[in-house]
Amino acid sequence: MRNITLTRPDDWHVHLRDDEYLRRTITDSARYFGRAIVMPNLVPAIDNVQAATEYHQRIVANIPDGSAFKPLMTLYITQNTRPETIIEASESGLIHAFKLYPAGATTNSEAGIEAIESLYPIFETMQKANMPLCVHGEVTTETVDIYDREAVFIESYLKPVCAAFPALKVILEHITTSEAVDFVLKANDQVAATITAHHLLFNRNHMLVGGLKPLYYCLPVLKRNIHQNALIKAATSGNSKFFLGTDSAPHPKSAKENACGCAAGSYTAHAAIELYAEVFDKVNALDKLEGFSSFFGADFYGLPRNPDRITLSQESWSGPDRLQFGNDWLIPIRNGETITWKVKP
Ligand code: NCD
Ligand code: ZN
Repeated sequence: MRNITLTRPDDWHVHLRDDEYLRRTITDSARYFGRAIVMPNLVPAIDNVQAATEYHQRIVANIPDGSAFKPLMTLYITQNTRPETIIEASESGLIHAFKLYPAGATTNSEAGIEAIESLYPIFETMQKANMPLCVHGEVTTETVDIYDREAVFIESYLKPVCAAFPALKVILEHITTSEAVDFVLKANDQVAATITAHHLLFNRNHMLVGGLKPLYYCLPVLKRNIHQNALIKAATSGNSKFFLGTDSAPHPKSAKENACGCAAGSYTAHAAIELYAEVFDKVNALDKLEGFSSFFGADFYGLPRNPDRITLSQESWSGPDRLQFGNDWLIPIRNGETITWKVKP
């Protein structure tokens, strides 16, 4: 049996939700991730240090006994965010990044930004405070096709922001296109990207051929296979600008399988590192998995790498059909299908 041992990985983009959902999400994320950057898109948005402190306490209360899992908190940038919030966050030691959502771009983004230009004083303060900016990189312009929204965002907003603030740390989250890969490759060392397991495993055919499948509907939406291939190439290249961020985003079955509009988000936290291992193995790049999963994110955020290790073995198991999620069910990616790598207990 083939084994691979890695420094304990981290997840640099996850949605843990709140209240009755926390037990589910943290149990899965804490199974092998050492740390996770926790997204702030609750309702109401986590947009101040006090709210993040309380959310952090609720998360910690749900971490399984014996786990050393550490949630790394973020704050949501709204049109009301002030430079003082950045300074307070930076001095708190609790906040590791701010998240920019264009208003209406994705799940719970109603509190997001209408005019990115108005944020320049905020970016200026973040740059000075060495506070990273996580970006949901899609425009919401009605006339821009949904498949083009990431590429247009990069040209219209991200390039100008990165040019104006060359020392600002920017993470383009959950990239989905070859344009995003090219942008990150050409940008300076302050610019990086996270890549999800589902954007490496799937393209839009998985979602659309043979019937529309809510399981695969997430934002940014899955693209053509040429983009999927560009992401695989970037993730497995060993380039430290690309690192692991699952964007595992749970929604109850009733919200996903809903004829009035499927909620955006796919759940992979129950098998994330195993799914990434499959992708890397398929292109004979398992030797590049540790950098992507365990080194580059920590290095970019200026945090120490995890001190311990995990081992995966090439072993087939059946992904669960469904998982308990509050009073509802959650249908995870690879539901009832074979997963070919497994973390050793
Ligand atoms: C995320 C969610 O459900 O919170 N959904 C998604 O499709 N990825 C939000 C996000 O990261 O865009
Ligand atoms: Zn997300």
